Amino acid sequence: MSTYRLARRLAQLEPSATTAMNARVQQMRAEGLKVISFSVGEPDFNTPAPIKAAAVDALNKNYTHYTPAGGIVELRKAVAARITADQGLSYTANQVSVTTGAKEGLYLAFQALCDEGDEVIIPAPYWVSYIEQAKLAGATPITPFAGDTTGFRLTAEQLQAALTPRTRIVVLNSPSNPTGAVYSAAELRALADVLLASEALIITDEIYDTISYVAYARWLRVAPELADRTIIVNGASKAYAMTGWRVGYVAGPQPIITAIKDIQSHTSTHTASISQYAALVAYTPSAELDQTVQDMAAAFRKRRDLVLELLAAIPGVTCTVPDGAFYVFPNVTGLLNRPLKHGICTTSDELNNYLLEHAHIACVSGEAFGAPGYIRLSYATSEAEITEGMRRFRDCLG
Ligand SMILES: Cc1ncc(COP(=O)(O)O)c(C=O)c1O
Repeated sequence: MSTYRLARRLAQLEPSATTAMNARVQQMRAEGLKVISFSVGEPDFNTPAPIKAAAVDALNKNYTHYTPAGGIVELRKAVAARITADQGLSYTANQVSVTTGAKEGLYLAFQALCDEGDEVIIPAPYWVSYIEQAKLAGATPITPFAGDTTGFRLTAEQLQAALTPRTRIVVLNSPSNPTGAVYSAAELRALADVLLASEALIITDEIYDTISYVAYARWLRVAPELADRTIIVNGASKAYAMTGWRVGYVAGPQPIITAIKDIQSHTSTHTASISQYAALVAYTPSAELDQTVQDMAAAFRKRRDLVLELLAAIPGVTCTVPDGAFYVFPNVTGLLNRPLKHGICTTSDELNNYLLEHAHIACVSGEAFGAPGYIRLSYATSEAEITEGMRRFRDCLG
């Protein structure tokens, strides 16, 4: 038995609820059930053709060898130029590391920056991996709750109350997974004013920046004076429908990026060489690709409007209008503790199971994101599936 003793830091690791839900959906489908999934966090579009062509070209040119840790210099230069244009601040290739998805970028940032006893402020509802990654780095997650009364956006007062001398990092994620909330410039400014008086670092996870239905307020455009304390995280997964290619990046002060690359040099070294050459096309300015990215965002917006309209017709469900990403995060407390067609649910987790069992629709319960009373639906699926899924949702309640 002792042979299988796992490291102590694993004792608190929670496996991913979304992955668990996807596994259940696969199992039910294998049994012949027609399950509609609203649980997947990825675009249903295919990777744009010019990006795929670049990968084929790279293969044919035998770009199949190791690359420098943190990515080929051409890609880091292209990403630095993109960041410079986005943020309105000058970034060089040395301030960028390309990672195996934004997820690895975040993991490496926590590893490079956190010690035991440090606190990381992660506003709830949160993307689950922030919590687990902070814990794996020895830090303690602090999770002030920003519910639907503030549009799922942390207020300056809440941030102020959560800050302590031990706060090492504050994580901002706009547009947000799971809520789709997008912070306004004024809201970011209010947070910046609080942070100026602290020594905390800021991680701004901008992975959904191209999927914003309102003018996107970027953290460093609003608070450029905090650039020397900010780590930008982004990637190709959502903007370019490239989830499987595993391309993300971190950018920030050079000493932090060098530390991140040093860890990378002993772990993954770099993401796949072919993916890097594909991403080089994604990050090279192109009117055609810009249009493709905008078209995908427009399609998501149409689906958001559809899902909101259909959810509004379900008694007991209220939903804040999300301004970005491809998630809605309805409040389902009105459906709890009262008789539904097939029984009573006391928690959103039970309701989530109820929906899977009786309506064959897969969502993710708010509990997974630190927000009981809500469920998350990803609308990165066809309009026909959204319509049928919402019909089933409504019908199974009675
Ligand atoms: C908020 C957020 N950040 C980061 C990621 C990581 O994306 P990837 O590792 O595919 O770049 C995701 C993926 O779901 C996400 O939702």
